[in-house]
Amino acid sequence: MTETLLVVYPWAKALHVIAVISWMAGLLYLPRLFIYHCESEVGSAQSDTFKVMEDKLSRMIMWPAMIATLFFGLIMMAIPGTPGYIVHAGYWLWLKLLFVAGLVLAHFSMIRWRDDFSNDRNERPQRFFRIVNEVPTLLMVGIVICVVVKPF
Ligand code: HEM
Repeated sequence: MTETLLVVYPWAKALHVIAVISWMAGLLYLPRLFIYHCESEVGSAQSDTFKVMEDKLSRMIMWPAMIATLFFGLIMMAIPGTPGYIVHAGYWLWLKLLFVAGLVLAHFSMIRWRDDFSNDRNERPQRFFRIVNEVPTLLMVGIVICVVVKPF
């Protein structure tokens, strides 16, 4: 059984990193759409186009990619004898999970803001979304340093 799990591990990691790239693409692109959406008239054809783009990006890319990232990450944490095994992993994994919790919070916040735009009730200024757009990048940098360097 352990041999099988050790064969599964690199596959789980590969699928994990693929899902991470897709999820990050959505977390970085959706706030950009919000920034441009702020410039379009409520009810205009341009605003309707942004609503469709925001809806498809979140439903068809961000949700499946987040679920796959978490699923394959949790699989790796459950395999004994591997660097990611939760029982023996260093503090790097706990700090990483803290940063990941921040990304999940950012994801749910973006879904709520998307709903505000789709119901024409967004009141947040463009500047707010420019600042928000930096948060996933900073968290991603922290996550990748934790998991690749494993500093502690
Ligand atoms: C609950 C969510 C997550 C869990 C449980 C998790 C867990 C793990 C584990 C156990 C590994 C294997 C570590 C190793 O073998 O050295 C790993 C690899 C990796 N994770 Fe995650 N992860 C999660 C989310 C993320 C996120 C959100 C990102 C990026 C933004 C990320 C980026 C990576 C990368 C780049 C690797 C490959 C590291 C390497 O090959 O050295 N993970 N993850």
